[in-house]
Amino acid sequence: MSGLYARERQSVSSMAHLRFFPQAVVGGSGAYLTADDGRRLLDFAASWGAASLGHSHPAVRAAVDRALSDQAGASYLSSANEACVLLAEKLLSLVPERARGRVWFGHSGSDANETVARMVVAATGRPRILAFDGAYHGGTVGSMAVSGHPAQQGTRAAGLTLVPYPNSYAADTPQAASEAALADLDRLFETKIAPDEIAAFFIEPIQSDGGMLVPPDGFFKAVEERCRRHGILIVSDEVKVGLGRSGRFNAFDHSGIAPDIVVFGKGLGGGLPISAVVGPEAIMNHAVAFSLQTVHGNPVCAAAALAVLETIERDRLAENAARTGRVLRDGLNALARRHALIGDVRGHGLALGVELVGDRAGRTPATRETALTVYRAFQLGLVLYYVGVRSNVLEFTPPLTLTESEAREGLAILDQALTDVAAGRVDEALLADFAGW
Ligand SMILES: Cc1ncc(COP(=O)(O)O)c(C=O)c1O
Repeated sequence: MSGLYARERQSVSSMAHLRFFPQAVVGGSGAYLTADDGRRLLDFAASWGAASLGHSHPAVRAAVDRALSDQAGASYLSSANEACVLLAEKLLSLVPERARGRVWFGHSGSDANETVARMVVAATGRPRILAFDGAYHGGTVGSMAVSGHPAQQGTRAAGLTLVPYPNSYAADTPQAASEAALADLDRLFETKIAPDEIAAFFIEPIQSDGGMLVPPDGFFKAVEERCRRHGILIVSDEVKVGLGRSGRFNAFDHSGIAPDIVVFGKGLGGGLPISAVVGPEAIMNHAVAFSLQTVHGNPVCAAAALAVLETIERDRLAENAARTGRVLRDGLNALARRHALIGDVRGHGLALGVELVGDRAGRTPATRETALTVYRAFQLGLVLYYVGVRSNVLEFTPPLTLTESEAREGLAILDQALTDVAAGRVDEALLADFAGW
C-alpha cells in the first residue's frame, strides 16, 4: 500500500469509497494516471466515465481558466450566466425534437435523476414510476428511490415498480430475453398497475452498473410503443453511456427511439461536476424554485461542459469510440477464445463489459476471480473496475480519446492478469480490504 493511500485512511471517510485495489494518484495526462509511487497507470475506467476526454485535456483546462479569469458568479439560481445559456442551447440541439424544450442543470447524475423523479410526478399528476431491476440512477435518497441496483441500501419510492431488464446472455438469445421482458411488462399493465397512473419509465440505453447489459434489437422500440400508447414519458439516463461513449452521440440512438427526457452527467463536465436534464417545456417549467442547490449552474463547470461537447464534435470522438471500441472488443473476443473465465463480451463503442463465469455451461458468476483480475491488472498497470448485480462484469469506460495502441496495451495487461488469476498466482488475501460492490 502506498504512502498516500495509507494516509488517506487516517483522514478521509470511507462512506463514499468503492475500492477495488489501493489506487492513489497524484496526476494524469490523456489516458494515463500517475500513481503516487511514480507508476503510470493506463486508465480504462476514467473515474467511472467522468474523465470523458481523459486527464488534463487542453480544451477543458483552457475553458476553466477563461471562466475563472473573469468569473460570472457561481450559480444560475438568481442570475443568468452566458456559459449556462450557451450550454443549454447546445444541449437542446443534441436531443430529439420531442425533448427539445428547456434544460435544468445540476451537479451529478444523482441530483438530475432525483429531480426528474420528482418533476414527472408533480408535472403530470401521475403517481407511479417504472424502472428496471438492476438500474443505478444515483446515490441520493430520491435517485436511489427510483433505482433497482441490489448494492444500494436506500428505500425505494412507494410509487416505483421495477421490471426485468432483458439479459441476452442469461436468456440464451436476445429474442428470448426481449420476449420475456415485454411479456412481463404487458402482464404488469394488464393485471397490476393502471398504465395511466405511470408518469415515466426510466431507462438505461445500456444497463451499465447492472452489468453492461445491451438491450436486444427492437426491445426499446417495443417499450416506446407501449409508453406512447399509455402517455408514459420515457426518461433516457445517458449519464454513463451517453455523450459519444457508445459510438453514437446519444446511446438511445442504437435503439432508434426518441425519449421525452434526456439525462446527462458524468462525462459532461470532463471531470468537473455538472449534470443536465433536457425535456419538454411544459414539464421543465412546471414550477419555479422546485429543485435547486446553491452552485447549480456554476459557469465554470458549464464552460467546461461546453468545451467537452465542442471537443467531442470537433475531434469526432463518437467515431473514435466506435473505431477504438471495435479494436478493444475484437481483442476481448480474442481473449475469450483463450480464457475460459470469459463468458460473454458485450457493449457498444467504449462502453464494454466482460462477464466472468466459473463454468460456461452453467454461467456461474466468477465473483472472486473478477475481484482478483482487476487487482492483478492494477498491479500490472491497468485501471479497471467491475459492475453487475453479481459483481462479475469487468467494465470498460476509458476516455473517448483512447487510441488503438492504448487499447492494445490494455488488452495485453488484461491477458496477463487473467492468466495469473487462472494459474492461482494472485493471493486472495489481497482482497481483504477491498469489498468492491
Ligand atoms: C446510469 C447512471 N445514472 C446515474 C448515475 C449517478 O451518477 P452520479 O454518481 O454522478 O451522481 C450513475 C452512476 O454510476 C449511472 O451509472
